[in-house]
Amino acid sequence: MRALVTGTSGFIAGHLARRLVAEGHEVVGVDVAEPRRPVEGWRDVRLDLRDDAGVEHLVNEVRPEVVFHLAAQASVSISMREPRLDIETNVIASLTLARAAAEVGARRFVFTSSGGAMFGDPPTVPAGDDTPVEPRSFYGASKGAAEKYLKIVEYETGMTVASVRPANVYGPYQDPHGEAGVVAIFSQRMLRGEPVTIFGTGSDTRDYVYVGDVVDAQVRAALAPSGEMCVVGTGVETSTRRIFDELARLTGYEVAPVMAPPRAGDIPRIALDASRAAAVWGWRPQVSLEDGLALTVEAFRTA
Ligand SMILES: NC(=O)c1ccc[n+]([C@@H]2O[C@H](COP(=O)([O-])OP(=O)(O)OC[C@H]3O[C@@H](n4cnc5c(N)ncnc54)[C@H](O)[C@@H]3O)[C@@H](O)[C@H]2O)c1
Repeated sequence: MRALVTGTSGFIAGHLARRLVAEGHEVVGVDVAEPRRPVEGWRDVRLDLRDDAGVEHLVNEVRPEVVFHLAAQASVSISMREPRLDIETNVIASLTLARAAAEVGARRFVFTSSGGAMFGDPPTVPAGDDTPVEPRSFYGASKGAAEKYLKIVEYETGMTVASVRPANVYGPYQDPHGEAGVVAIFSQRMLRGEPVTIFGTGSDTRDYVYVGDVVDAQVRAALAPSGEMCVVGTGVETSTRRIFDELARLTGYEVAPVMAPPRAGDIPRIALDASRAAAVWGWRPQVSLEDGLALTVEAFRTA
């Protein structure tokens, strides 16, 4: 396939672009930021996707068959401080990109939403795809809104839209300096012997899904006969404290965490029931938390 992948200087799209290139697909990657890792085998374009004319020009030139849209303002905390930036990046730029792609005859638009943030504090955990969209953060609201806008593009144009709704993604090369990505932040700080902060009591739970498994869901979403919207997670709740303890063991870190008040927009617990992804994409997580954390620490150790 000829694929346009957005957000390739970031964590998940960087892994996805590598997998697509390895499988022989033609890939154009786009991101506003410089890549943190070397670009291997794809054309790398610098563009702010909030630039409508720039997006239309790029899409006209590339004429992608499939668009994997991962570029986003991806932090809950930043969304609470700067909701306008969040809307412009996650909703408006997604809409412009999708309409431009449909205009040049793209077959499939694979959006990356958020299973965790979109459902807020769900009545049932693990939460499946029938969970009401009741976000508690502007970030979650922007992802839910983008899904609605993209479905309208599908009705309007016939380009099918899929949405991968991941839980908390972790793995090698996640930015350890961001405001999200607890595994990356803890791993690097522990390996450097620096203090590690836990916001809240440490009993908050998340569903940690390995980046390779999320990339696999993206590829399946692109190849499936129709556009589907599915949560992608393990169904298992893991507390922040357990992540701290596992990583401390793997890195030999012996310092107690610094405890700080919870952050705005954070939810107390989440895990996702991916039975719909299993039914329509044949997707199941392959990498256990123990193996995934070990792979992540190893990558940070050798970086
Ligand atoms: N990491 C997770 O746990 C997680 C969970 C659920 C959903 N997601 C979603 O997956 C996608 C990828 O997340 P990630 O963890 O790789 O994040 P990331 O921050 O590592 O990557 C996002 C990339 O988007 C780029 N970007 C941001 N604004 C842009 C703009 N205006 N124009 C062009 N590029 C822009 C950034 O420069 C960055 O390289 C996002 O859509 C995110 O919301 C991530």
